[in-house]
Amino acid sequence: MAVAYNKRTHRCGELRRADVGKKVTLAGWVNSSRDHGGMTFIDLRDHTGLTQLRFTAEHPAAHEVARSLHNEYVIAITGVVLSRGEWVNPKLPTGEVEVEVTEIDLLSKCDPLPFQVNDDFDAGEELALHYRFLHLRRPEMQHIFRVRHKIARAIREFFHENGFLEIETPFLTKSTPEGARDYLVPSRVRAGSFYALPQSPQLFKQLFMIAGFDRYAQIVRCFRDEDLRADRQPEFTQLDMEMAFVQREDVMSMVEGCVKRIFRDALGVDLPVPLPRMTEHESMERFGIDRPDTRFGLELQDVTDLAREVDFNVFREAIDKGGVVKCIVASGGDKLTRKVTDGLTEEIKGIGGAGLPLVKVAQGVGGVELQTGIAKFLQAITAELCAKVGAKPGDTIFFMPGTYAEVCKYLNHIRTRLGQILNVIPKDKWNLLWIIDFPLLVWNEEENRWDSTHHPFTAPLDEDVSMLESDPGKVRDKAYDLVLNGTEMAGGSIRIHRPDVQKKIFSLLGISPEEAVEKFEFLLDALRFGAPPHGGIAFGLDRWAMMLTNSTSLRDVIAYPKTQRAVCPLTGAPAPVSQKQLDELFLALKPLPK
Ligand code: AMO
Repeated sequence: MAVAYNKRTHRCGELRRADVGKKVTLAGWVNSSRDHGGMTFIDLRDHTGLTQLRFTAEHPAAHEVARSLHNEYVIAITGVVLSRGEWVNPKLPTGEVEVEVTEIDLLSKCDPLPFQVNDDFDAGEELALHYRFLHLRRPEMQHIFRVRHKIARAIREFFHENGFLEIETPFLTKSTPEGARDYLVPSRVRAGSFYALPQSPQLFKQLFMIAGFDRYAQIVRCFRDEDLRADRQPEFTQLDMEMAFVQREDVMSMVEGCVKRIFRDALGVDLPVPLPRMTEHESMERFGIDRPDTRFGLELQDVTDLAREVDFNVFREAIDKGGVVKCIVASGGDKLTRKVTDGLTEEIKGIGGAGLPLVKVAQGVGGVELQTGIAKFLQAITAELCAKVGAKPGDTIFFMPGTYAEVCKYLNHIRTRLGQILNVIPKDKWNLLWIIDFPLLVWNEEENRWDSTHHPFTAPLDEDVSMLESDPGKVRDKAYDLVLNGTEMAGGSIRIHRPDVQKKIFSLLGISPEEAVEKFEFLLDALRFGAPPHGGIAFGLDRWAMMLTNSTSLRDVIAYPKTQRAVCPLTGAPAPVSQKQLDELFLALKPLPK
């Protein structure tokens, strides 16, 4: 009689000593097998864990089948739970018992494997993604997707409990400006026209507030054609939310409640709230970036005033051009060998910098001394410099002269690398903080106009509105970004709800009134018909899953991700289409570049 695999009594990770003597039915994959002649042992695996099965000559039919099994064959068995006696395996939760099998059904065979499921040997990304179903079968991947599910569930429950409505927004839509390139979908019915896949539901959720829904939250896919990195995918998932009649405080405290719930439900961690806040200005000053990793020091220090006093061309040129000189002081000199610092210099050159001037601090007869690198230029300010930046013998000081933006970019890179090299970034620390008061606009040199720091619908701070005419670059906004250990986890803002202010912002962004109507008529219309003050935020759900599972790439936490080249090795997408499909869409392909 066949084993009733649809009536499993237990999952493979469940049996314990208390179950000894029970007749059980299990089903799963062969994780490994050991043939000892008269006795065969199989470790049977499902998503809950492993159970050791024992086959003996007492049940010869079952034993014979067992001896023919290979890894990843799918079987169902019936048997009796026995104590393992002195052969307990303390590493397995089921290690005190085994199942003596009386009946077995081979449900499915498995071809020779491209990589093993039962080890964590790095299969290589292409292969792992090509056979993603096998890769996902690995216990660590199963764990990741269970944590991801807990995060999504915590979010859904939290927003439901707080009166938010989940309403869907369209995918076939018009360009939504979040700063990336759009993915386009050709229209067949209106040949020559294209839908854009949404970079986010930004405008739709604002319209929900104008429509009177009051609170909206949706777990939704977003699409952005941008250069991929470990923390960027072309399609990714947001928790997108919006609230009417709110100020910044209201959105931020709602988010803190949700984040607290995520940590509780996904990790069992009690996260203290409210979360710390830092202005964008302070973050740039201290860390050189607006998403600082505050788990470690190595902060940037401004030494422009002292650098002005020395006769060193590289510093002088930067300062004369209105730039700055900043530095980072690193202890642990023995790890910062010449080879390592030369390597860091090369890295800076690799990302566009000119170099990495540095000195080592030593104990001289008459006090501290600077050695190597640019030491000879800094003799006159040695004592003052070391006192100002807190450098002691054994330390290395890394300098960066240049424009403010350059100095921030390069020293942020150096700070992160030093953190890794000196091994001072603590694991298991959750440094969440808000970054607020961003500049509303950043100057775009190439296009000779302003760009939004966030998006064009972000409201300026009330006290700065008057500077929109006189000094737009000084205007700060009502945005807030949530940062965890150096990764941007969420971003949002209070929105503009007055059409005149929205039009003003469009004009600063170089969007003409005609273009504004063409692109955003529906928004400008809606703002004229009774728009309540409103604001919201979007979490990068994939990034939450990545950080909370200590994964290093979004590709680990997205079931079917794209590679660095935006390809899906599982399905082979993107792929050419037939001439017939192109003809239906009135599309012709240009010759492709060789
Ligand atoms: P923003 O563009 O900041 O804001 O996106 C919100 C959050 O989404 C995540 N994220 C990404 N995750 C993976 N891959 C990507 N390519 C990617 N791009 C962004 C980040 C980010 O913090 N409409 C606004 C939100 C609002 O104002 O309410 C928006 O989309 O974690």
